[in-house]
Amino acid sequence: MGTSTFLMFLCSLVLSLAAVVLSKHPAVDVYLERRCNEASGNYSANSAYEANLNSIISRFSTSTEFNYGFFNLSAGESSRDKVNSVALCRGDMNQADCKTCLNYTATELKRFCPFNKAATAWSELCLVRYANRDLYGLLENDPRICVFNPRNPSYPDQFNDALSDLLDDLRNEAAAAGPVRKYAAGNASAGGNHERVYATMQCTPDMDQLNCDTCLAFAQSELEKCCYGRIGCRVLRPNCVLRFESNPFYNETAVPLPSPQPSPSGGNEDETTPTVIIVIASVVGVLILVFISMCMLMRRRRNKPVSANVETAPVDSEMSGIDPLQSPLIE
Ligand SMILES: *[C@@H]1O[C@H](CO)[C@@H](O)[C@H](O)[C@H]1NC(C)=O
Ligand SMILES: *[C@@H]1O[C@H](CO)[C@@H](O)[C@H](O)[C@H]1NC(C)=O
Ligand SMILES: *[C@@H]1O[C@H](CO)[C@@H](O)[C@H](O)[C@H]1NC(C)=O
Ligand SMILES: *[C@@H]1O[C@H](CO)[C@@H](O)[C@H](O)[C@H]1NC(C)=O
Ligand SMILES: *[C@@H]1O[C@H](CO)[C@@H](O)[C@H](O)[C@H]1NC(C)=O
Repeated sequence: MGTSTFLMFLCSLVLSLAAVVLSKHPAVDVYLERRCNEASGNYSANSAYEANLNSIISRFSTSTEFNYGFFNLSAGESSRDKVNSVALCRGDMNQADCKTCLNYTATELKRFCPFNKAATAWSELCLVRYANRDLYGLLENDPRICVFNPRNPSYPDQFNDALSDLLDDLRNEAAAAGPVRKYAAGNASAGGNHERVYATMQCTPDMDQLNCDTCLAFAQSELEKCCYGRIGCRVLRPNCVLRFESNPFYNETAVPLPSPQPSPSGGNEDETTPTVIIVIASVVGVLILVFISMCMLMRRRRNKPVSANVETAPVDSEMSGIDPLQSPLIE
């Protein structure tokens, strides 16, 4: 008895510790989806192509330009060795956080796709692509990913209606947002108990208004297929991204557009913290499961009549679902 109480205490201690650790390190951007493009071929170790790729990656963290979080970089002269890259930070990022995200995402992408000339990654706060061909200004359909939170909203019909209206508004706003940043964020009431839905939509600003609208419309139609009835979801495409959650996951005050103003206040922590990062959530979920099962096992041994099915309880911290999407093809 005393032991099991102690174990339970230990369980909750571990839980709160995990929560504290997670909330103290919001800058560690562990969420990463990536696609290595096998079809575009491989470079070899220490080749000119690799050197050019490395120089682009290092420019992400050394660049003094912010350009509202958009980068169109290339390195190399000969067509054989030239690397092109397009990168984009979420519209509410300031320069420092944007740099950190791009460096992390590009570094990890190269590590995950060793020797692939072309690859794409989406992390929590930014998107990075590189290839041995032009990327700038081209609306593309692949690669694309849909990741969702399998929980359902309490009032699915109201939630979906509100979401659909909100996304139509944000799509128009983002597409019309002008040549430097095509980003929109907003929220709407989503049914009883003051529930709300929060969403962001963004295109790389090399998309003109029409292409941005087209990209986001594809994303919306993908969302209807893979995220209908979900409480949170991201649709990730080469030229645009869409995300919605039931909590405010973005910073309401984005860097203002007219003149670049690197924010003087250091703390960019709290608003992004409540975002449940999928990977961490799964890992923590598994740890919790293991821990609780251990606790219950101990308790059962000491205390025969105990109800069994505990294992089903914390399943909904498992949050990742990936779906190879079929969306309307371009052209
Ligand atoms: C590229 O390298 C990967 C492994 O590193 C290999 O599986 C693949 O066949 C290579 N592709 C080409 C086109 O050489
Ligand atoms: C983007 O990068 C490509 C490749 O270097 C270059 O040809 C193009 O002019 C750039 N576009 C802009 C607007 O900087
Ligand atoms: C870039 O990211 C990598 C991998 O996370 C890290 O090891 C490196 O220190 C970072 N570089 C800078 C300049 O922040
Ligand atoms: C949510 O929407 C309301 C009304 O449109 C707005 O006043 C508020 O700032 C929004 N909050 C966020 C986090 O976007
Ligand atoms: C939101 O962004 C602004 C501008 O970058 C920054 O000053 C502020 O600290 C951020 N706030 C939060 C809570 O992230």
